[in-house]
Amino acid sequence: MGLALAFESSCDETGVALVENGRRVIAAPLFSQIALHRPYGGIVPEYASRAHLEKFTSLLEQIQAEHALKPGDLDYVAVTTRPGLIGALLVGYQTARAAARYFGAPLIGVHHLEAHLAAIRLNGAELPYPALGLLLSGGNSAIYRLHAPGEITVIGDTLDDAAGEALDKAAQLIGLGYPGGPLIEKCAARFCERRGISRGNEAMPEAENMFPMILKSLRRDKVEFSFSGIKTALARYVAGQRQDLDADAVAFFYQERIVEHIARNVAHALEMHAGLPLIAAGGVLANQRLRQALETVSRKAGISLHVPDFAYCTDNAAMVAAAAQLYFENGIASPYVTVDANNGFLKA
Ligand code: KG4
Repeated sequence: MGLALAFESSCDETGVALVENGRRVIAAPLFSQIALHRPYGGIVPEYASRAHLEKFTSLLEQIQAEHALKPGDLDYVAVTTRPGLIGALLVGYQTARAAARYFGAPLIGVHHLEAHLAAIRLNGAELPYPALGLLLSGGNSAIYRLHAPGEITVIGDTLDDAAGEALDKAAQLIGLGYPGGPLIEKCAARFCERRGISRGNEAMPEAENMFPMILKSLRRDKVEFSFSGIKTALARYVAGQRQDLDADAVAFFYQERIVEHIARNVAHALEMHAGLPLIAAGGVLANQRLRQALETVSRKAGISLHVPDFAYCTDNAAMVAAAAQLYFENGIASPYVTVDANNGFLKA
């Protein structure tokens, strides 16, 4: 058994969750700060910290009203300690520490990226060690090798921006709003409908693509992501556009290039680490087109693909409990005790 109260505040989602065995979500109230940051086209760290501070109390009260938790009821309290916005992390950490003290439960610090990957446990899957973990979010784009809980090495990282960041920036440049990923996906889907292209069609109308392929020749010995070049290409394209911009077409071709780049890199990683199953997680995995592309790549490589439910792709507190339970049930001390803004995983 393991009844946990978990806290997430690494970026712009304030989440608290009551989770049993790191698998069954009993309650997971979540406050999204999107509306707060929207006028600025991105996250304002200080506003995020303040909003976490204000919202944690009401989310806790909500859980408390529904489940009347008492001291002694919890097996542990879990909290994201890294990586993330330092102020936002500190708010979550202090709140979780106070909760742990009140409930008389131990505190387990969790790595945010391990939590994203552990989110597959919330839909009944187990983390299949050893495995490859693809993490694509607003702040990270990397592939990891998962050896055991807390033992993770980086086998591929981004040279510049993250995939989510590139989608957010693109949406801003073409005037769609924030956050960009879902808006770009919606426009791209509309383009597909308009043109009668089935989503996930392998043959994109290449000749019409206004964006160059990202990192055309991949390095054989490494996995590298890069998303800044295509961002610049889009900025130039928008600046050079004299007539009305076809936002749907731009979104479609932009998304296609990003999905293609990710899929090629994943195929490359699966060749380098043959036979390992793949876990793909992070906010960008809410994208249907990307999920389809990864399914194709995994099928070709003959390996199993695990992706969290949509509800647990973007930041949430239930996934924090899913990761903490790995430590709790295996009697392993979490290495993520202190708060740190940085990732800290070692390069393979
Ligand atoms: O993991 P996440 O919730 O937060 C962190 O960055 O930690 O990821 C947020 C990112 C944003 O960049 C957002 O635009 C992207 O995930 N995202 C999507 C979709 N939904 C969210 N990207 C593509 N397609 C989506 N449907």
